[in-house]
Amino acid sequence: MCGIVGYIGHREAYPIIIKGLKRLEYRGYDSAGVVLYDGADLKLAKTKGKVSDLEARVAQEISTNGNIGMGHTRWATHGVPNDVNSHPHLSNSGNLVVVHNGIIENYEPLKKELINRGYTFKSDTDTEVLINLIEEVQKKENLKLGKAVQVALNQVVGAYAIVVFDKNKPDELVAARLGSPLAIGIGEDEYFIASDASPFIEYTSNAIYLEDEEMAIIRLNKSLKVRKIKDDSLVDPYIQELQMNLEQIEKGGYEHFMLKEIYEQPNVIKDTYRGRLLANKGIIQMSGVEDNLEKFLNAKRILIVACGTSWHAGLVAEYIIEEFSRIPVEVEYASEFRYRNPIINSDDIVIAISQSGETADTLAAIKLAKENGAFVFGVCNVVGSSISRETHAGAYTHAGPEIGVASTKAFTTQITILTLLALRLAKAKGSMNHADYQRYLLELEMIPEKVQEALLTNEISKQIAAIYKDASNCLYLGRGYNFPVALEGALKLKEISYIHAEGYPAAEMKHGPIALIDEQMPVIVIAPNKGHYDKVVSNIQEIKSRSGKIIAVVTKGDTQVKELADHVIEIPETSEALTPLLTTIPLQLLSYHIAVLRGCNVDQPRNLAKSVTVE
Ligand code: AGP
Ligand code: GLU
Repeated sequence: MCGIVGYIGHREAYPIIIKGLKRLEYRGYDSAGVVLYDGADLKLAKTKGKVSDLEARVAQEISTNGNIGMGHTRWATHGVPNDVNSHPHLSNSGNLVVVHNGIIENYEPLKKELINRGYTFKSDTDTEVLINLIEEVQKKENLKLGKAVQVALNQVVGAYAIVVFDKNKPDELVAARLGSPLAIGIGEDEYFIASDASPFIEYTSNAIYLEDEEMAIIRLNKSLKVRKIKDDSLVDPYIQELQMNLEQIEKGGYEHFMLKEIYEQPNVIKDTYRGRLLANKGIIQMSGVEDNLEKFLNAKRILIVACGTSWHAGLVAEYIIEEFSRIPVEVEYASEFRYRNPIINSDDIVIAISQSGETADTLAAIKLAKENGAFVFGVCNVVGSSISRETHAGAYTHAGPEIGVASTKAFTTQITILTLLALRLAKAKGSMNHADYQRYLLELEMIPEKVQEALLTNEISKQIAAIYKDASNCLYLGRGYNFPVALEGALKLKEISYIHAEGYPAAEMKHGPIALIDEQMPVIVIAPNKGHYDKVVSNIQEIKSRSGKIIAVVTKGDTQVKELADHVIEIPETSEALTPLLTTIPLQLLSYHIAVLRGCNVDQPRNLAKSVTVE
């Protein structure tokens, strides 16, 4: 995720770009940069930090005249947030400049080839490779910018929304997209390019949203041309008149960031395994794991430390890693681990999970583990965060900024990373036969589209929410891989609707909680047609016989539970170990709708902070 703004037209570009970056800052705020063309030369300023830091840097370093320019506010994926890794990035000649949102998966082999051809690199980013690839194509084949971009992008694997400028062709901007959004605002003798319409909605409501694998060549005083990247064929673009206001645009048209982030899950799960899961080749490649594979294989146990939702992801990982690789796993609340004088051995592997990468308890647990000689592997969503810097190695989720305090896409992308890890360890240990291993890779690759299908439960979740929005208490039950999902569902409801909710292993009901059951108690039961399904059905019967209200999350086509439950929410079928990635979706939607119906502040619930950097 990041924010991109480009402008070419009759106005001064800088004010439009800097204001546009501020509106896009919710999409990523590691660093920011701007490049302007004043008719003679390129003027570039960029800095780690916020857009306000960029404004200060611009005031010190460059003049701001010029009617062409581009800006970028970064959410780092490759290369820590610092000045050098900030966008825009120049080509070696200094003639070409790019801003990029996305991930160039095959940037390493491309970089090696370009280095062999004499290119040098200042940054650690994948983006700097892209702009030099475009330069190499342009020089080698003597092509105009648009054609050079088109040819270069056909060599690229990954996701991108880019704007490219060539100072030798100063009346044009080239934009292209695959997997990351790009909107073009069309004004009177002026064009705006941005990650969403918020930077230009005040100037024009006429916009083109580029489709995947499309590019636009934008020339002043000439028409804008849209082409297919694959074959350069012309496309007749659909120009729409936008009806959204600024706030709606920032939330992607959703009422809250939380709902937007729930719906981003298919894309961000795909972004998280992009370049790491090559299912058809039976390959999983995560450098943080590969470089330390022996440590993982020789470990007598894996300790997972985390808080809140990340702790729930750790519990799912415990089931998956033990089942797949037979390595013992223990999951600890970081806040408990750091103070209970735990036994930590030097051959332990500690996995620290944190969306923000700044959670104080988790950071303290990491330091304690390191003091005792353990190897610490981080799973974070923020590149360059404290936890990512404190751990010996790690793997980033590529969920993009999670603005809603209630964690949603972080949970599913954490599980994605940990499933990849479990499968990689299973393959290395030979603890899973090849057929199963291959089956899981292919099934994991299909999860984004199954999550997309699970999101279709939004309507029924909303209807059920209307029935139970005034409940005082709620029980969530699950077994096996879905016990942690029951805990997570309960946490979601608690933290945004303020209804008391508890998650429990379904079988634990008879050891006490069943005393709570009456017709006032809604019980959400996670009952996919996998694992100990029949046992869960028995649990449901126990609840029904005590007049509990049953909301069941079932596999599509289920008939048995349908006979017993008051409400069923159907999700697609998948492998048992991957069901948490789907069963959590209706629980996120249910808690969201109940909170909205209760008039709660969904994105900033009372008493909570997005990142708990204090004890
Ligand atoms: C989850 O919805 C909460 N926002 C909270 O429990 C959160 O998961 C916890 O504070 C851990 O945060 P982290 O993942 O950033 O470390
Ligand atoms: N992958 C690029 C980088 O890490 C772009 C990240 C983004 O989308 O902001 O710089």
